[in-house]
Amino acid sequence: MDTTNQILLPDPIPDHPLLHGRPEIGRGESSIVVDGDVVDGQERVFKILSSPTDYAYYTAPDRPTGHHFPIVYADHGTAGRSSRGYPFHIIEVEKLYPLPCAGEAAEVATKISTSYFDACMAWRNLAQDMGRIALHHLTVTPMGWSDAVKDSLQALEIFSTEYGALPDLIKADNLMMRKDGTLVFSDPVFME
Ligand SMILES: Nc1ncnc2c1ncn2[C@@H]1O[C@H](COP(=O)(O)OP(=O)(O)O)[C@@H](O)[C@H]1O
Ligand SMILES: [Mg+2]
Repeated sequence: MDTTNQILLPDPIPDHPLLHGRPEIGRGESSIVVDGDVVDGQERVFKILSSPTDYAYYTAPDRPTGHHFPIVYADHGTAGRSSRGYPFHIIEVEKLYPLPCAGEAAEVATKISTSYFDACMAWRNLAQDMGRIALHHLTVTPMGWSDAVKDSLQALEIFSTEYGALPDLIKADNLMMRKDGTLVFSDPVFME
């Protein structure tokens, strides 16, 4: 839930033929993102994941899919082991963009982050379950979500419960967008 002192994964890009020579375009506490190819007009990236929860989010048969979830093109298997102790998994997903300061997607993202944060404060005595309860609260309280956003929040809640993941909807860069302005839940869960 810390939004300012994020520790980035210190590992170099793992050695794998698919990744050679590709510029790194993003990094978080558990993932590295390198630029991919443009296939049939669609820009792609490779995400190198060290968190089993993130890997499940992108590849599980019952992972959340639909308008606001990232499109996954391929699971390229593993590439060594990260300093966090888990194997690196390489997956190929659609390229996304940071949310701009203004616009519809940014407004919805801000509303999700702030209402989620407020709900976390309200339920903070629930400790470990706080995040999931806060997410549940967002899905059952009328807040003017579009149907697609509400369905997505519900799908995230189900995924979090099934996979023992914790929602991570506060960090601004976990919500991203497509070039056409669609809000996408890029990295909305983490491992407990
Ligand atoms: N699909 C994507 N396209 C382009 N950049 C991305 C994509 N997904 C993530 N990024 C960038 O990489 C950074 C780390 O990715 P993220 O999934 O948030 O990793 P972590 O699980 O380590 O937080 C993000 O903050 C963002 O800047
Ligand atoms: Mg992230």
